[in-house]
Amino acid sequence: MKGIILAGGNGTRLYPMTRAVNKQLLHIYDKPMIYYPLSTLMLAGIREILIISSREAQKSFQTLLGNGDHLGLTISYAEQEHPNGIAEAFIIGEQFIGIDPCALILGDNVFHGHGLSKLLTKSAQLKSGACIFTNWVADPERYGVASFDSKGNVIDLTEKPHKTLSNWAVVGVYFFDNNVSSIAKGLSPSARGELEILDVIQYYLNNKTLKVEKLGRGYSWLDTGTPQSLLQAATFVQTLQQRQGLSVCCPEEVALSKGFIDLARFKKLAEDAAASDYGKLLSHIALEFDTLTSN
Ligand code: G1P
Repeated sequence: MKGIILAGGNGTRLYPMTRAVNKQLLHIYDKPMIYYPLSTLMLAGIREILIISSREAQKSFQTLLGNGDHLGLTISYAEQEHPNGIAEAFIIGEQFIGIDPCALILGDNVFHGHGLSKLLTKSAQLKSGACIFTNWVADPERYGVASFDSKGNVIDLTEKPHKTLSNWAVVGVYFFDNNVSSIAKGLSPSARGELEILDVIQYYLNNKTLKVEKLGRGYSWLDTGTPQSLLQAATFVQTLQQRQGLSVCCPEEVALSKGFIDLARFKKLAEDAAASDYGKLLSHIALEFDTLTSN
């Protein structure tokens, strides 16, 4: 399975922070925002990744992540000229996707939770149909929402509903089979002028090939769409990392734990960042890994 990170958009809800800097390059506590969705794709076992952004931001992402080799990944880049909607990612990424199924994650979505790796790895085995996740939220009007019937089947998908239809928000990580590019190409722009991700999902729902999983209490899905939620996400990460001494969405650690890189390569990455708290965290992880594997 291939993976796309959509890091486009103008980030207007975060102006003026995002006037000169792409939203996904802002930091959440100790690391750039894009590290979080990148780690999530890696947790799913995905190693071929396309980052889609504006042309200006592309250079910065390349400086940050290069070709992904240091993480045992292959990272390539593509441009979304205008924010024409999430589903456009599958048209821009058509060649990259090739003959494979494809996951898409939104560059500003943060996931954390016990068992996440297992859940994502299972989803990445998908060969036909689509798989999406929903999470209970207090403010469904800010998201795409799924409504369920009494048997738990999805009966409706609505983007940013004006009145509450359901509190189950569709989170920003999606798994699709290889038909996704041609489905996206067949879409017409919505009233707000975008190719909507929910219209792609609706296609699979109509064909009865959509699987929807509800994320339970053990999972955290954080939003970074407003200054307040950005700060909350940072505090969440800081609290967990300091309390447990564990990292949240650290791509280097995921690369090590998934066997994408070996310990020697990981230690080199820790050394390169030695002056920062992030580097200290990496050194701590290397030490733990050493102890775990030598026992
Ligand atoms: C997008 C999607 C929406 C989804 C949300 C998750 O909204 O359109 O369906 O629930 O991401 O973060 P946006 O954040 O682009 O407004």
